[in-house]
Amino acid sequence: MKITTIILAAGKGTRMRSELPKILHKIANRALLQHVYDTANQLQNNTVKIVIGHGAEQVKSTLKNLEADWIEQKQQLGTGHAVQQASDQISDADTVLILYGDVPLLKLATVKSLIDSVNDRSLALLTVNLANPSGYGRIVRNAAGQVEKIVEEKDATTGEKQVNEVNTGIMAVQGRQLKKWLSRLNNSNAQGEYYLTDVIEMAVADQINIVTSQPETEDEVLGVNNRIQLSHLERVYQQEQANSLMELGVTLKDPMRFDQRGSIESLGQDIEIDINVILEGKNSIGSNVKIGANTQIKNTIIGDNVEILANCVIEGAVIGQGSRIGPYARLRPDSVLAEDVHIGNFVEIKKSTVAAGSKINHLSYIGDATVGSKVNVGAGTITCNYDGVNKFRTVIEDGAFIGSNSQLVAPVTIRKNATIGAGSTITKDSPENQLTLSRAKQVSIAGWQRPVKKEKN
Ligand code: UD1
Ligand code: CA
Repeated sequence: MKITTIILAAGKGTRMRSELPKILHKIANRALLQHVYDTANQLQNNTVKIVIGHGAEQVKSTLKNLEADWIEQKQQLGTGHAVQQASDQISDADTVLILYGDVPLLKLATVKSLIDSVNDRSLALLTVNLANPSGYGRIVRNAAGQVEKIVEEKDATTGEKQVNEVNTGIMAVQGRQLKKWLSRLNNSNAQGEYYLTDVIEMAVADQINIVTSQPETEDEVLGVNNRIQLSHLERVYQQEQANSLMELGVTLKDPMRFDQRGSIESLGQDIEIDINVILEGKNSIGSNVKIGANTQIKNTIIGDNVEILANCVIEGAVIGQGSRIGPYARLRPDSVLAEDVHIGNFVEIKKSTVAAGSKINHLSYIGDATVGSKVNVGAGTITCNYDGVNKFRTVIEDGAFIGSNSQLVAPVTIRKNATIGAGSTITKDSPENQLTLSRAKQVSIAGWQRPVKKEKN
């Protein structure tokens, strides 16, 4: 069986009050439409078609990596009209799945059960019972409980408006039949639109069985129409991710104050995450890792037994096992730390490797550097890697000791076990095992007196 998924995404989203097309707004840093696509894309034998209209060019260029056929609906004349745009691309034997680009949290299992209910004689419709159904299309059933039709709010009688079971808009139907019904749609209704929902009544007339099912939770079928709903679904999504991490053995001090905007590629045991931690992109986290409060970690590999203290910003780094980072440290892309490295407060590392057991504990900038093992970098050390035009490397070999407030002007090499005296500006390679320093001689002026303030006349 082949599946054609049609994602309706041409609507404007006026209530977002945004220049950005609604479906490009994000949940967990992923566009709404991308969420829907990613779910559909997990189905086997599936072709995805996306109906776009408002901001079509921007949508296509932003999501150009989607393997989907883009179909433009020039005027938004209704959901039925939107699906009609794809009609000539639907094969008779296909099962057609209709999804909405602004309903991002629909689950794969829900979609699969819809598809499984479709055949020559039946259409699958996802409905939900809402305490407040206003605004939605109502599911009208006969005395035997069989679905007769869907009536839109604006076309509904007072009696029909009392119905709590509503149309989610999501359905699966056989291709040949759908095409037949689409060709018969008209717009003689309160909104002057071509309603996709009218196919239900046509299906019933053709003696097709309407099989309804409901999602596990209401949140799965909620759409985003404004930023309040966007924030609600963001929290729902974050809560789900937090729950699955906790199920995998992660301690979250407060799951309400945890955000994951991306994926976790591998996860150890007994990880402890304090409040307000944001994980972005692709991260791997080893066992017995502690992550302190207010820390942001992106595209990083964290080894076992690492401790990251509060208020760190880490991106594109590799942190070796047993290392300790922060508080207030910044690791920028291509920072590769071996095991047992200590990076302390107000230290910035960029495009540098630091070998095992080295310590850079206070107020330093280490950029474009190769730091050996058991190196001690004193407070306030700066690798001067940039002459205003080009960047150069600093090499600090094993066992070196860099005195506080030193500047290492690259390209420069500090040899094995060298010691650099505090306050030095190092412009030439410093030899192994020796003390190198560049510092004006200290003098004291005997008999010197502080100036005194002049008397005003
Ligand atoms: C639709 C259903 C309603 C259901 C509700 C669920 C119809 C006639 N009504 O209502 O029964 O309860 O969804 O949210 O189907 N779209 C297009 N092109 C168009 C019109 C819409 O692509 O011309 C897209 C929108 O971008 C959106 C989806 O279709 O993703 C639904 O459109 P929307 O206007 O929200 O549907 P409603 O009329 O509210
Ligand atoms: Ca809607």
